Amino acid sequence: MFVCLCNQVTTHDIEQVMAEGNLSFEEVQQELGVADCCGQCEDFARNLVNENATKVKSDLFYEAAYSAASTVLYILLLFQTPNAVNDLTHF
Ligand code: FES
Repeated sequence: MFVCLCNQVTTHDIEQVMAEGNLSFEEVQQELGVADCCGQCEDFARNLVNENATKVKSDLFYEAAYSAASTVLYILLLFQTPNAVNDLTHF
């Protein structure tokens, strides 16, 4: 769905740049140019960014937590049995 007709920006475009770490309206605007012409789309675009920011932050948190847990598990396996990591990678 188009959010900004002046700049041909869609909801998908906004979600994509936010997934890359641009979580504020200003960052999204800098990347896509959304709402930098007539301004009619600004309120809608801001609301969309704010709603998506919560979801993206949550996704990024879970990705980081999963990565940290995997690293800890890997280290624990490494110290438990020296060949454990080898066993896991050469099955
Ligand atoms: S519709 Fe977005 S700046 Fe005009």
